[in-house]
Amino acid sequence: EIENTLRPRNLSEYIGQDKIKEKLQIFINAAKLRNESLDHVLLYGPPGLGKTTLSNIIANEMGVNIRITSGPAIERPGDLAAILTNLGENDVLFIDEIHRLNRTVEEILYPAMEDYALDIIIGKGPSARSIRLDLSKFTLIGATTRAGLLTSPLRDRFGVICRLELYENGDLFKIVYRSAAILGIEIEEKAAYEIGKRARGTPRIANRLLKRVRDYAQVKGNGRITFELATKALDMLEVDHLGLDMVDRNILITIIEKFGGGPVGLDTLAASTGEERNTIEDVYEPFLLQLGFLQRTPKGRIVTKLAYEHMGIKDVNGAE
Ligand code: ADE
Repeated sequence: EIENTLRPRNLSEYIGQDKIKEKLQIFINAAKLRNESLDHVLLYGPPGLGKTTLSNIIANEMGVNIRITSGPAIERPGDLAAILTNLGENDVLFIDEIHRLNRTVEEILYPAMEDYALDIIIGKGPSARSIRLDLSKFTLIGATTRAGLLTSPLRDRFGVICRLELYENGDLFKIVYRSAAILGIEIEEKAAYEIGKRARGTPRIANRLLKRVRDYAQVKGNGRITFELATKALDMLEVDHLGLDMVDRNILITIIEKFGGGPVGLDTLAASTGEERNTIEDVYEPFLLQLGFLQRTPKGRIVTKLAYEHMGIKDVNGAE
């Protein structure tokens, strides 16, 4: 429904990630010229940047069907075999969280990706033998937060590898402005920019903030989102002017107050903040690193001078 109508349907509608769009457009056009399936694509980067959206766009631009699933949903080799044998010629198979495939399932994927073949073992013990079943050509699109989470044999089988980056404020402004138009929300340009600026580089968060700010503007105003209403709503949501939320601030304060600014290891930090290690690494850290508030060192994470300044805490240890 609404969530889907906000999603762009083709590459020209998709805002940001220009380098990825340029590459994909060329590879898609080339595959279509040759009447071939697009080579397998690995998309990686923090959540909410549009990996699922891009996959839908790729299938749409190729003019094929897409089957969407996820690593944890494919429990047994037979589950994957059922999916693969039901794909049409050149279809897209999108596997979200592909790093969470179990080993036996992943091994089915190797010949499928490489030779479009399914190796099936028949029987047990000394009389067991393997037969090879041909599959239609297809494009696997795998999504994950960090490429390093994949085993190297799996990673090596992707012909196209794209790293999605946090969006720039100008692109987030365009996304908020476009979403507001689609949802029929009246919004000042300055307000759209402010919402984008506070979305931690992430379109999914920008669209979520837009909806909450709309609620605020409807109840506290006449529905039109002015800059003033937007900042009040965002302050109420405890998203600060750079987009840090309570968890970001808690991570910084914990490192400063409990660990003298660091270095502190990820597991220790997870235990002290009550956040999952993976959540810190995949969701919070990329944004704090991009802002230059956090640094990774061999001994652990350290908070920078910039972060002390932003948090309004005096640095007694002299961070860099
Ligand atoms: N909505 C969410 N992400 C988007 C993007 N990258 N471009 C356009 N609209 C979006």
